[in-house]
Amino acid sequence: MKLLLLGKDGQLGLALRQTLPALGAVRALGRTELDLAAGPKSAVGHARHDTQGGLHQLERFLQQVRPQIIVNAAACTAVDDAQHDIERAWQVNVQAPSCMAAWARRSDALLVHYSSDYVFDGCKRSPYLESDRAAPLNVYGQTKLAADQAILDSGCSCLIFRTSWVFSAQPGNFVHTVVMRALGCDALSVVDDQVGAPTPARLLAQVTVRAIEAWQRGGLTAGLYHLTAAGATSRHELACHIVRHMQARGVRTRLQPHCIRAVATADDPGRAVRPMNSRLDGAALQQALGSVWPHWSGLVDEVVDEILQNLGIV
Ligand SMILES: NC(=O)c1ccc[n+]([C@@H]2O[C@H](COP(=O)([O-])OP(=O)(O)OC[C@H]3O[C@@H](n4cnc5c(N)ncnc54)[C@H](OP(=O)(O)O)[C@@H]3O)[C@@H](O)[C@H]2O)c1
Repeated sequence: MKLLLLGKDGQLGLALRQTLPALGAVRALGRTELDLAAGPKSAVGHARHDTQGGLHQLERFLQQVRPQIIVNAAACTAVDDAQHDIERAWQVNVQAPSCMAAWARRSDALLVHYSSDYVFDGCKRSPYLESDRAAPLNVYGQTKLAADQAILDSGCSCLIFRTSWVFSAQPGNFVHTVVMRALGCDALSVVDDQVGAPTPARLLAQVTVRAIEAWQRGGLTAGLYHLTAAGATSRHELACHIVRHMQARGVRTRLQPHCIRAVATADDPGRAVRPMNSRLDGAALQQALGSVWPHWSGLVDEVVDEILQNLGIV
């Protein structure tokens, strides 16, 4: 089995590099090998931001590798930046996956893609089902929804996993940031009115392999599924949990849990609007695979331990 992984250097891409080899030979590409937003070099060597160049390169890689499975972990995930660089967000998050879907349809390949809780407006009082109406509040959410629809409409075989609050031991996510702030600062403000399930990249990568295997043997229908860790929390509770866990491991944090100030999202008006309720109902995929995903708290603890080990603290 030949697989093509895009976005190999992101949180999820790194985790998929560990799990996908169980399925076959993996060709992994990062932005340096294939910039999905870049145009061809002009005569004076400046890249034009013309998506055709990125898409042509993508097509060339697909023709060259001829994968039976495309796994797309590449995305513009900077939610606030996407509000200003709409074109780039659209190129990477919509046009590139649409191109992958068209190629997968023509070549009878499977496309695995990841979507987001941000396709919803967060007004529902309970966890969102796959069948719930999407109504994104920001550009990033609009691009993720447009890609879901384009992939489903293409008629290719696909597995789309909508997830939330992805974290790993790499820098650049909420869990890592709170660990670093707990070591270096004595005060922190965190919103307490956004609720969701923190989900480790490792869980997504492990379930991806199980889902592909189930699809291959006819035990899972192609389509869109919600996939997050179990349970839910607010960002403020999550920050307190992380610091308490560090202290339970014997780490002398500068930040004390009671010094983490709970603030409302409305108090930070400069940012892109985000859904208050990011909870996704993951029952459909769990039933299909005969599994129950672990609770977010133990998964956060594991990654905090890994970060502390990487820092040489425990
Ligand atoms: N992070 C979250 O909280 C979250 C929540 C819900 C859903 N998701 C979805 O989960 C998936 C994986 O997210 P993640 O957390 O792993 O994101 P990530 O860490 O930001 O990784 C995204 C990867 O995409 C690459 N990329 C960005 N622009 C590109 C371009 N122009 N050409 C080629 N590659 C490009 C990035 O390259 P560089 O390494 O060069 O930057 C990065 O390696 C995405 O589909 C995301 O929308 C994420």
